Order: sequence, then structure tokens, then C-alpha cells
Amino acid sequence: MSSKPQTSSSPNRTGRPVGIASIGLHLPPLAMPVEELAKLRGQDPKKYTIGLGCREMALCPDDYGAVELAAEAAKRALARWGGDLSSIGLIAVGTESAVDMSRPLSAWVAEELGLSGAVRSYEVKHACYGGTLALRQAYEWKASGAAGEKAALVIATDVALYELGDPGEPTQGAGAVAMIVDDARIASMDPVSHPWSEPAFDFWRPVGESFPRVDGKFSLDCYKRAAEHCFAALAGDGDAEEMISELAAVCFHVPLPKMVKKAFLHVGERFGWDAERAEELFDLKVDPTMGWNRMCGNAYTASLWMSVAEALQGLAEGERLAAFSYGSGFGAEVQTFTAGPEAAAAAWAADVERDLASRRHVDAAGYERLRGVRLAVSA
Ligand code: HMG
Repeated sequence: MSSKPQTSSSPNRTGRPVGIASIGLHLPPLAMPVEELAKLRGQDPKKYTIGLGCREMALCPDDYGAVELAAEAAKRALARWGGDLSSIGLIAVGTESAVDMSRPLSAWVAEELGLSGAVRSYEVKHACYGGTLALRQAYEWKASGAAGEKAALVIATDVALYELGDPGEPTQGAGAVAMIVDDARIASMDPVSHPWSEPAFDFWRPVGESFPRVDGKFSLDCYKRAAEHCFAALAGDGDAEEMISELAAVCFHVPLPKMVKKAFLHVGERFGWDAERAEELFDLKVDPTMGWNRMCGNAYTASLWMSVAEALQGLAEGERLAAFSYGSGFGAEVQTFTAGPEAAAAAWAADVERDLASRRHVDAAGYERLRGVRLAVSA
């Protein structure tokens, strides 16, 4: 791709290109600093904070999960959109926290919202990439004209939990991001995106098992390889450094912030950038997009969209950003967005501020209770 802006070939009924018209976010009501987990696992807390770049893990109480997160995020996006529920013609939920093998999670959310009738409703699964696929499908549905006057409601929602003591445990998190695809008030989506997939067992969860199986080191290699291919396709014949420099932000799926840095520096190496310049670009374009991720942990499908929502805040109309999605298994895709007139005001930031201000922190003992671990009582 060239570094010049691409505009949608299919303008919406308002004459604006198709894209994100509203965003709603929701984080669960509990959280724990990773230092508390380090106490339980006998680790140096710096391993989690510096080695992995993690800060806090968002946690769900017993009666809270992917459905509650998704429904609340969707309500917030709908309230801000101002459109009528009867104008929604598609609801797609990207998740890997499915609550049923047949009934889509979208049905639970639609029930909660009172959404039924001439609506296409479904769930999309591809590990952390599921939300991106749902968004791309919604965009293509809308931009093709198949949607008519209707808009799409897309939600990425997940609760990420690992087996107790798993090396992935400090990266846990939970959250949901809902987006309404209609006219591009917040951001237009560029029609061309760049996917890359390779079948792999880097992270998977067999049917009936509660926690993922992970080949941690291999998953890091898969992620880096996917980033390399996607960004090479995005740069095309153009100058990659110039392309990145011209973007306002570069967002990544954030399983753990250190992974993102490793992948970005790997991409820089692939493009032959000077190491100091790669670090500088990371600090300028990537690191500032992970503030909310650090307060949330890995929310799987919602992770990238949390980063995109944070990066869109305050952008002037016409500024652009790139979003790299990765889902184990593995599938990846990079796409670009152009800020619309409502990006600058960033109304959705209030959702995160509100949830961060109201959530309760649990300590190591509280976490063990939450995870159903019987505490050893010393005599
Ligand atoms: P680990 O056992 O913590 O790895 O597992 P480690 O022992 O190599 O330590 C990590 C880093 O901490 C190292 O730094 C250590 O040196 C450093 P690095 O070599 O990487 O620069 N360290 C310290 N630093 C400061 N002070 C200390 C200290 N001690 C050690 N005292 C791993 C790490 C990521 C493998 C693990 O957390 C894991 O398995 N996570 C889950 C899998 C994952 O997130 N993979 C990422 C790519 S796959 C993906 O993104 C998809 C996913 O989101 C799922 C989906 O798609 O659905 C996961």
C-alpha cells in the first residue's frame, strides 16, 4: 500500500465513508495489580512489570462474564450513537469465551438489548482475531450496499484466564469493546486490508477444557512472523519507515505489552531500520496506544480495539492509524483507519475512566478466593 490515504469507495447515505460511528467500552468491576500475583507465584514482581510489561489484570466476579461485558459495552455504544435500535441490521460478536457450542453469544446480547427481527445475528471465533473478522465483515456488508440503510453492531468481548501457575497468568484480563459500523463519524475504514494466516498450535483450547493450552515461546514467534508479513504487505513498494512516521499511531493486539515491543522491533529489523530509530518509532507511535491495555490485561478479542479506541482519542479529522490484529491458530490482519470529525472529542474515553475509577482492587488472597482456591491455614 502507498502511504497516501485511501478513502472508501462506497460512501454511506450521509455521503460520509463507511466506518465506525460509535464506540462503547466496558471493563469488569474487579482488578489486581500483577505484583499481588507475583507474591503468590514466588516471582520477582519486576519479571511481570518489566519482563512482560504488565501492570493490572481486570477480573470478573462470579456472576460476570463475556455476555455482561458485551451487553454493557453495546448499550454504551448505542446510547452514544443516537440511532434507533430498529436501524441495527446485523449484530456480530467476536469472542473466544463462548458460553454455548451452538447458540451464538450474540443471541444473549441481543436478548439483553431487546434486539430482534430483520437482524443477522452471529458469533465469530478465531481466537483474538474474532473481533477483527466481525468488524471487517460488518464493514464489507455495509460498504457493499447489502445493508441498505441499516447499521451493524460489532462487539469484541472476552474473559482471559489461564490455569493457576501458568506462565500466561500475569497477562490475564477481561473487557469488551462495541462498535457501530455506519457512517464514519469516528473513523473510516480503508477498504483494502492485509491478512496473513498459517495453521499452527500456538495457543488453543480443546472442547470441554476450561483453560487454554499454550506453547508460549512458539506463540511469540508466530505473532512476530504474522506482524512481519502483514506490515510488509501494508508497506508494499513504499518506504516502510516513512509510512509508519506518517501514521498518528500504530496499534497492535496486546497479549502483553512486551510482546508488542518485540514484534515492532522485529518488523523494524525486517525493514532494515536502525535499532535506535525503531525504538524511537515504538515510543512515539506504539507505546502510547497501550495505556488502557496495561490497566486491563489481555482481553483477547477486545485487546486490539481497546488500543485503537485509545489511539483515536483526540485525532484530528484525516489523521490515520494502523491496527494489527493477531489470533492464535493463527490468523492476522493489518488495516488502516482515517479519523472522522468525532474522533477529537473521544466521548468513549469516559467509559474507561468511569470503569477504572469504580472498580475494586483485590489482593492475592482475594484473587485466590475468586479462582476458587482453598487457602492453606497455618496452625
Ligand atoms: P515467561 O515464562 O514469563 O517467560 O513466559 P520468560 O521466563 O522468558 O520471561 C519473560 C521476560 O521476563 C524475559 O525477558 C525475562 O528476561 C524477563 P525477554 O527475554 O522476553 O526480554 N525477566 C525479568 N525482567 C526483569 N526482572 C526480572 C525478570 N525475570 C525475568 N526479575 C510468555 C512469557 C509470554 C511465554 C507467557 O506469559 C505466556 O505463555 N503467555 C501466554 C501466551 C501469549 O500471550 N503469547 C503471546 C503471543 S500469542 C497471542 O498474542 C494470542 C493470545 O492473545 C491468544 C489468542 O489469540 O486468543 C495469547
